[in-house]
Amino acid sequence: MSPTVISLFDHSGRFVEPWAAAGYTCYCVDVQHPPGQTWMGNVCLVGGDVRRFVPPAGPVAFVAAFPPCTDLSNAGAHLFKVKGLRALAASLDLVGAADDLCHQLGAPYFIENPRGQLRHYFGEPCYQFDPCEYAGWLPDPGVEAYTKRTCLWTGHGFRMPEKRPVFPVKGSMVDKVPQSKNRANLRSLTPRGFSAAVFHAHHYAL
Ligand SMILES: C[S@@+](CC[C@H](N)C(=O)[O-])C[C@H]1O[C@@H](n2cnc3c(N)ncnc32)[C@H](O)[C@@H]1O
Repeated sequence: MSPTVISLFDHSGRFVEPWAAAGYTCYCVDVQHPPGQTWMGNVCLVGGDVRRFVPPAGPVAFVAAFPPCTDLSNAGAHLFKVKGLRALAASLDLVGAADDLCHQLGAPYFIENPRGQLRHYFGEPCYQFDPCEYAGWLPDPGVEAYTKRTCLWTGHGFRMPEKRPVFPVKGSMVDKVPQSKNRANLRSLTPRGFSAAVFHAHHYAL
């Protein structure tokens, strides 16, 4: 049975693209996918709550998690009091579910979130990066020549991949995405350069 790749809180599927292209079976779990399982080639979109996700049996090559950061990130700290304790508790519950799955599955993993509340629970992040530091992995590096610093908490042999930086000519992406119905999804897209680099670091290590 070939190892699978599991990506939690993944609507775009960008993280699994290189793994899927290499033939891995990939699962992207996100409440925004259609309910149940939708297969797109060897990628399974799992529409539902991560807290109820039952991983497939068999070996797992990699686990990625991109839990919602709205009620955790320092960028929204001025609203913490207004949002209240329950918003914080709900967000931490999702991160806790991802953390449980990462530990249960035993494969190299990361949990991604911007700087914020998680350091009080997980400690300082293992790594931090801006998308532009990995843009050089792309055929057109200019697409991700921007900053949007984020943090990784990692384990089970995760190796921070080699950087191929480009100058961030696009500036910061934190506040640049224009208002639209899809703004939240556009702002949280996984950078493809980082995805490619993680794949190369771990695929060859298998
Ligand atoms: C910060 S975004 C990460 C997006 C990801 N980087 C991507 O490229 O699609 C968080 C994602 O978590 C999803 N989400 C929120 N609550 C969820 C839950 N309880 N179970 C599964 N997914 C959830 C949202 O729909 C959103 O796509």
